[in-house]
Amino acid sequence: MTHEKIIILDFGSQYTQLIARRVRELNIYCEIHPFNKIPSLNEDVKSVILSGSPFSVRDENCPLPNLEDIKGKIPILAVCYGAQFLAKINGGEVLPSKIREYGRANLSYVDDTSPLFYGVSKNSQVWMSHGDTISYLPEGFDIIASTKDVKVAAYKIQDETTYALQFHPEVYHSTDGKQILQNFLVDIAGCEQDWTSSSFVKDTVEELKKKIGTEKVVLGLSGGVDSTVAAVLLHKAIGENLYCIFVDNGLLRKNEFDSVLKQYHGMGLNVKGVDSKNRFYKALSGISDPEEKRKAIGNKFIDVFDDEANQIKDVVWLAQGTIYPDVIESVSTNGGPSATIKSHHNVGGLPDFMKLKIVEPLKTLFKDEVRRIGKSMGIDSELLARHPFPGPGLAIRILGDITVEKVRILQEVDHIFITSLKKNGLYNSVWQAGAIFLPVQSVGVMGDERTYENAVALRAVESTDGMTADWVHLPYEFLSNVSNEIINKVKGINRVVYDISSKPPATIEWE
Ligand code: XMP
Repeated sequence: MTHEKIIILDFGSQYTQLIARRVRELNIYCEIHPFNKIPSLNEDVKSVILSGSPFSVRDENCPLPNLEDIKGKIPILAVCYGAQFLAKINGGEVLPSKIREYGRANLSYVDDTSPLFYGVSKNSQVWMSHGDTISYLPEGFDIIASTKDVKVAAYKIQDETTYALQFHPEVYHSTDGKQILQNFLVDIAGCEQDWTSSSFVKDTVEELKKKIGTEKVVLGLSGGVDSTVAAVLLHKAIGENLYCIFVDNGLLRKNEFDSVLKQYHGMGLNVKGVDSKNRFYKALSGISDPEEKRKAIGNKFIDVFDDEANQIKDVVWLAQGTIYPDVIESVSTNGGPSATIKSHHNVGGLPDFMKLKIVEPLKTLFKDEVRRIGKSMGIDSELLARHPFPGPGLAIRILGDITVEKVRILQEVDHIFITSLKKNGLYNSVWQAGAIFLPVQSVGVMGDERTYENAVALRAVESTDGMTADWVHLPYEFLSNVSNEIINKVKGINRVVYDISSKPPATIEWE
């Protein structure tokens, strides 16, 4: 079944994904495509939104898409760079702003006969972020909003449903931004607003049934939100033909393997728990380099998964819990590939030799949408609220080489920290938390005895997508209690520190 959709052409703005989220919050499906790979438009495409950009239209190498098949044919909303681009290529003029315009501004003029501004208040606050200004609008372009400093804050092209905004309606600081987007998408572009959790589940289950038929699918469960929601969707579509594998790599949290496995069985999933702890410990033995650890774990996972999948007769498909941010093709703003900071072994899937067809039922969803869909299918809210946990698990939270004893110690420390966050009602206000085993020993005193033991660091961050993060200002009292409990209860640890670095320049994980 096809669904009406909006295409967002990305010129590399930091806000492009935000536009997509705002559109989807209006229950309208949208996709992001790079400006130089415009998909062919069929009748499902209701409108095209042009994003902002870090480029100036005056830059020599600025994005110059060919909009011949779009402009004047379907409704367009051009935002920031998009607005300047349309003005410039049609004979207008864009010059550097005399005053750089970043931050809040207020609309001093609004054409209240324009359907774009229905319900928008006179003085409405908008968010500006641009270094150029449209100084001259081409013939046939009408100004429909201004601010004190920006005459062309919005325009419309006569005889077309093409609208342009110099400000960012997708940013929360544009107080009527959502209303403006809704006016454009619903009243001007005629969208139905029928893309909801239940319509997504219904359509996806139908599609999966059609695609997979009676063939068998194998899926690796991780205990995380994405693979769990993917499994439940597939289970709804093909039942027992979905074979789930949940591997204990010996690097999970304390008791996690047993408790999550029990939960999966409770959901009726056809899941096999595989205890491979020793295979992983052996593969990791003597390795201290972070990237080598990741590779060793990634390779071992493939070995174990391959062994297990081979035991299922006639399996044809491999399901993965890939989500939208993993697949959006980003527009490079420096012309070159971005540097690999850390290799995430679970991105990129399994090697070709497995020769399985890939099915990725969550590939179009953002993380919060995955959670919402999970909730609508009745998945336990505690599971859906779980913090992200890296594929290589505690291995990248034990600095240096890994031993069974260090894993045990870190599991205990982490358990105390996470349980305390939950007990104190702090878990859900933290995006991710965990403990790190440090390869340093320091002198302490316990009773009358001198100790010389290891230190652990606690890390708790707030973030929206893991790309940037800030440390959480946990209450001193709480930190003090957790520290006491750890030092009193976990043998081998005599010092606890709290990580107060943000990302960038630090990263969330220590390795
Ligand atoms: P960093 O450390 O890069 O982490 O700031 C950002 C987010 O990614 C997670 N992470 C990983 N997840 N495999 C994963 O599945 C990995 O190798 C990996 N490395 C980091 C990290 O937990 C955080 O949520």
